[in-house]
Amino acid sequence: MVLTKLKMTDCLGDGAGDMTPMDLYEKLTSQGDTVRTLKTEKAAKADIDAAVQLLLKLKVDYKQVTGQDYKTGCPPSECVVSQDNGPAADGEDMVDPWNVSTTNAKGVDYDKLIVRFGSSKIDQELVDRIERVSGQKAHRFLRRGIFFSHRDMHQVLDAYEKNKSFYLYTGRGPSSDALHMGHLIPFIFTKWLQDTFDIPLVIQLTDDEKYLWKDLSLEDCHRYTMENAKDIIACGFDINKTFIFSDLDYMGASPDFYRNVVKVQKHVTFNQVKGIFGFGDSDCIGKIAFPAIQAAPSFSSSFPQIFKGRKDVQCLIPCAIDQDPYFRMTRDVAPRIGYPKPALLHSTFFPALQGAQTKMSASDANSSIFLTDTPKQIKNKVNKHAFSGGKDTVEEHRKYGGNPDVDVSFMYLTFFLEDDEQLEKIRQDYASGALLTGELKKRLIETLQPLITSHQERRKQVTEETVKQFMTPRPLNYSF
Ligand code: TYM
Repeated sequence: MVLTKLKMTDCLGDGAGDMTPMDLYEKLTSQGDTVRTLKTEKAAKADIDAAVQLLLKLKVDYKQVTGQDYKTGCPPSECVVSQDNGPAADGEDMVDPWNVSTTNAKGVDYDKLIVRFGSSKIDQELVDRIERVSGQKAHRFLRRGIFFSHRDMHQVLDAYEKNKSFYLYTGRGPSSDALHMGHLIPFIFTKWLQDTFDIPLVIQLTDDEKYLWKDLSLEDCHRYTMENAKDIIACGFDINKTFIFSDLDYMGASPDFYRNVVKVQKHVTFNQVKGIFGFGDSDCIGKIAFPAIQAAPSFSSSFPQIFKGRKDVQCLIPCAIDQDPYFRMTRDVAPRIGYPKPALLHSTFFPALQGAQTKMSASDANSSIFLTDTPKQIKNKVNKHAFSGGKDTVEEHRKYGGNPDVDVSFMYLTFFLEDDEQLEKIRQDYASGALLTGELKKRLIETLQPLITSHQERRKQVTEETVKQFMTPRPLNYSF
């Protein structure tokens, strides 16, 4: 699949007197009204002509700014997604729901990605505000810039301060029995958000997506859903506050959910999804229709059992930035179907063992540490495959020091070692050459082994009955 590119000049309101697409849209709508009124009132021809000329000029400006034709009742996207399906330009990182790659050993340039995707940086001010509003120390993923980008998080906090609740939505595409450590990142953070803000959570398991994209049977995908649900539950979510659902089951069981899917499908054109996801003529029609299914849980009316039919409860979606194309589409369509736009918190990628040029991915077993790996497998994988920023010989390493910025073991520790001071000391010692690669790897192995072993123990406690309870559509412990 190919990269989604944004025309940033468009987003920034370049041209047309620096008006934003929305300003222009509103001006056009009102000019259209003026022309109609003049015609109905049989005004002087010169006046009508002048008004029509202005209308036409505004339409040209609108097309220039948004790349779209003006359509009555169809406001512009907040940031127009171009129809450009070509590969990333030279030097650009590739990030979409299927591929992540960069030539830079330090990983994707996330600052550039923020500009390209039109999201906002999670800066220190926002981290401080989350701490102030929640009364909790920020999670290490926030402190260390692992969750680095957002959309509308300030709006969520503004509302929360006024006692308006919100809900969390995240998901997983179950394509195999086992999750890898990268998949844990959004779930660990979502649990922290749920505990910190005490809010409902819905988790979508897109078994339909995996059936459409992979060479798997429906039965396999559904079975993976049930297995993956156990891993997700083992992250510690509160059964009274969490609803997990399989698309294959919930689509048929919930008329409200399906109605929202259809609403989204009606308001997004084939051209738009081609532009966003790079679909081609030989992609099956299931893929083309699928983005609406990932969009629908962003609307509270998809879960009447939880939100009692309310359609105005704001949704916050924690995920890695690869999922953003789905939610750019969702945010574009939301106001047109009468719903609030979902807010987002985006994480960076947990890198592959071989280096930060790609993300950890289940399709390459050697690139990944799985939640099913034994302590011995973890040790072997780290020792054998984890890309090192160390020097070739001990002497050189002692003399020149290692490079923690490209060292995968150090990167993994930034995700999983809780203590900020210890992490900083490891960084300094590695950079100075006091800490050798083998010692750094040992440190990582000692951090990961107990973490995965205790995950496996918690997973063993998750019974079929517990999974069934989490996955039963039901009210949660909140009154809406
Ligand atoms: P999936 O199964 O590919 O990934 C599940 C979640 O894990 C994130 N993720 C990663 N995060 C950090 N480092 C990595 N190496 C890494 N690999 C994957 C993904 O961003 C995602 O948050 N279509 C989705 C399922 C889905 C979903 C959602 C995800 C449905 N609704 C709402 C997030 C939010 C998928 O296949 O995810």
